[in-house]
This record gives sequence, structure tokens and C-alpha cells, in this order.
Amino acid sequence: MAGRDRWATRIGLVLALAGNAIGLGNFLRFPGQAAANGGGAFIIPYFVSLLLIGVPLLWAECAIGRFGGRHGYGHTAGMFHCMWKHPVSKYIGVFGIFIPFTVALYYIPITSWCLAFSYFSLTGAYEGLQGQSEVGAFLHGFQGWSSNEHFDSRVPLYGFFLLTLGITVLTLSGGIARGIERLARVALPLLFAMAVLIAVRVLTLEPPPGAGPDQTVLSGLGFVWNPDLTALTDPRVWLAAAGQVFFTLSVGWGIIHTYTSYLPADEDVALTGLSTASLNEFAEIVLGGTIAITASVVFFGITATQQIATQTFDLGFQSMALIFQQLPFGRVLGALWFLLLFFAGLTSAVAITQPVVALLQEGFGVSRGRAVAWVGLALLILSTPVLWWEGVLDELDFWAGAYALLLFGLAESVVFAWIFGMDRGWEEITRGARIRVPRIVRPLLRYVTPLLLAAILIGFTFQGLPDVLARGGWMIWSARALLVAIFLALSLLVRRALAEPAQ
Ligand code: ALA
Repeated sequence: MAGRDRWATRIGLVLALAGNAIGLGNFLRFPGQAAANGGGAFIIPYFVSLLLIGVPLLWAECAIGRFGGRHGYGHTAGMFHCMWKHPVSKYIGVFGIFIPFTVALYYIPITSWCLAFSYFSLTGAYEGLQGQSEVGAFLHGFQGWSSNEHFDSRVPLYGFFLLTLGITVLTLSGGIARGIERLARVALPLLFAMAVLIAVRVLTLEPPPGAGPDQTVLSGLGFVWNPDLTALTDPRVWLAAAGQVFFTLSVGWGIIHTYTSYLPADEDVALTGLSTASLNEFAEIVLGGTIAITASVVFFGITATQQIATQTFDLGFQSMALIFQQLPFGRVLGALWFLLLFFAGLTSAVAITQPVVALLQEGFGVSRGRAVAWVGLALLILSTPVLWWEGVLDELDFWAGAYALLLFGLAESVVFAWIFGMDRGWEEITRGARIRVPRIVRPLLRYVTPLLLAAILIGFTFQGLPDVLARGGWMIWSARALLVAIFLALSLLVRRALAEPAQ
């Protein structure tokens, strides 16, 4: 369609897609999940999920996105409407707008906490605090979830949030090539440089005085890399591993589709998808897996690391803050670590905000500036519950950032391989390809991916759901009501945007 935004360069697109995938999931969520699920026990299900579900679906999503872009759509509701002429298809596609928008409500706040902690590290605001509990109290005081002597208002919290939201909105208002691509070209190289520097520093850490025999760099690495076959029969580890693959690759979100919709009709998606997955896995396994877990094992030991990792943010926020302040140039190292998280978060924050912007632009003829402004305002208002009440974040994260990802992944694999059809799907994946996509991907996408996903989803429903549903209280129910309201509102928008013009 004439006038659609386009990526300016191939390298810019790859960096933007990698920036989309590489996020807080790589440096905060992965170490937390790996440590909490037994380290080496986690790695085999992780790689199986990556190769049998993650990468094939990533290719399918790149193909769906480019296909949708050819028909003038940058959001999955429009894309599914084109792939399957059935009234329900666009509502399946709503998930690809609902998920990223809802995750943005807590993802942008977390990204802003990283920026804040980078500043706090540099200024020495938390220097001298002893132990997890003191740093934890500092963090919760900043978040406004408990009072302490460090913070007496939410002004710093809102200051950093508004700054982060502002940068996100400003980037998006520049458009695809002049906004998102430009940011990725600066942020990604910087992110990798910082991550490599910190990883090298962690690999040369000396154990603290009085450390136990398991507190070495080698034990830290061994904890992640020595495969533990006994846990292969534990369904919870499989659920956690598949969930992590979806989260980190940005598969099942709707955002890979949106980014690849800005590609020319015959531009390669096969190599682009593979490059994205490779860069993401390098950042996740080599860098994300090395930094937080190894540092924590050296300073606290394996058992303590596993305990710390049961709370998602504690490994990245509390342990790292404690560890760096004991090293020479600790303030700078800490500032770099949190700045790295901020850049990782920011390049994903723009990605998760873009699908709903595309819906407003394409479906209602709103200018980019206005669409971005409306979405920015909606994010500002709807993030309030996350910023005010502890617990809302976890609720949104479970439904939008875990359960819905698998559900949408399953639905799209069925629509793509069985309704759109594997022959057309294969043609879409391989047209213009600069690499030979292995033919095994066809049966994988047709049988293995949906079956495995269905099995995992059923497991998830029985293993995860009862605990989540047992959570109660007005705040949790309000969060659930918010989720339903967002889904309904987006469905109404999609219904109007895709209504056939009267003849
Ligand atoms: N894939 C992005 C992350 O890992 C959203 O955080």
C-alpha cells in the first residue's frame, strides 16, 4: 500500500527486531527463571522449546507480518482478517494488540525503575546498605509500596516513569525509520558493549572473604550449564522454559508481525528471523545467563541464589546492587548494569507500544503524532494501578505476559499452518529468503508446534491457573476487570476499524 512506513536499511531492521526481542526478559527474567527452576535443569526444556516452537513460530510471524503489510495492515487483527475470511479471525488477532499494550502498562514502569537505579547507583543513593532486606526496603520505598527513610513521596517514581514514557512516545512519533530504527542503531551497540564489559568483570570476580567452596565463577557457570536430566519429567520446568522462550523471542505477542509489516513484499524474512533469534539468544544465554547468576553464586552461593531468584526482580535489582557496591568502581559498574537494563527495556517498550499505534493510524486515519499521543495518554492513565498497588503487576504479567502468549501462539500456529495453509505459509516464509530454511520446519509448524503448545497450555492451565485464581482481594479483581475492559475496548476498535464500508 502506498504511503506505508518502511524500514530504511536491512541492518536497521535487524537491529530493531533484535532490540524488540532483547529486553528485560533476557537480563532480568531469564536468570531469575533459570535459577528458580534448577539452573541446568531448565536449559534442556529451554532449548527444546526454542528449536521446536520458538524459532519456527518466529519465522511464521515474520511471514504473517510481511503478508499483512502487503495488505496495508500493521496489526494482527487486520492480518488475521486477511489470512482467514471468518468473522472470528480478527478477534483472535486482537490478542496481538491486547498483549503488547497490556504488558506495556508494567513494562514501561519497570524500565523506568532501571533508569532510576542507574542514577541511584551513580549518586551513591543506596551505597552502604547491607543485605538483601535493606536494598529491598530501598527499592520498595522508591516504588511507594512501603514507607522507609529513603523516600517520602512518589515524586522520584513518577519523575523517572514520565521520563521513560516520554522517550518511548518521542521515539514512536518519529516513525519506523526515523524513530524506532534510529533508536535501535544507537541503543543496541551500546547495550552489547555494556553487557560484554559487565560479563567480563563478572567472570573475573573473586569470592568474598569467608566464602564457601561453591562460591566460584566456575560453580556459577556450572550451575546453569551442567544439564540436569532428572528435572525433565517435571512439567513446571517445561512450562517455565516455554514461557521464557515466548517472552524473550517476543513470539506470541503480535510485535514481530508489526515490525515485519514494514518490509517490502519480497524482502527476506528467513535470514532476518534467524538473525533476530541468534542475537537474542547470544544476549540471553551468553550475557544474561552469565552476569546475574554467576555474580550471585560467587557472592551468595548456589542455595541462596535459588532462593533470591524466586522473586523475579530480586536477582537483578537487589543482588546486583549489593554486589557492585563491594567492587572497585562499583558505582559506575552498577550504573552501567542498570543503564544496560534500561536500554534493553526501552527498545522493547517502543516495540510493544507500536501495534496499537498502527491500529489507530490505519483503522481510523489518525496521524502518527496524534495516534502516539493518544496511546501515550492511555498508558499514563492505565499504568496508575501498577504504580500504586503491589500485586497488580504480577496479575497483569500472568495473564498478558504468560498465559495469553501461549494461547495466541497456539491460535496463530493453527490459523497459519491449517487455515491459511502450509503451502501458502511456506511460500511466504521462503520467498526472497537469503538462506535455505530447513524443510523440517514445515512438519514442525504443522504438527509439532501446535501439539507441544497445546500440551504446555493444558499443563499451564492445571499447574499455574489454580494458584493464580486462588489469589483474591479487591485489587486483584480490579486488575482482572482492567484486563477484560482493555480486551473489550480493543475488540470494539478493531470491529470499527475493519468494518466493511457500506456498498
Ligand atoms: N522480548 C522482550 C523481552 O525479553 C519483550 O523483554
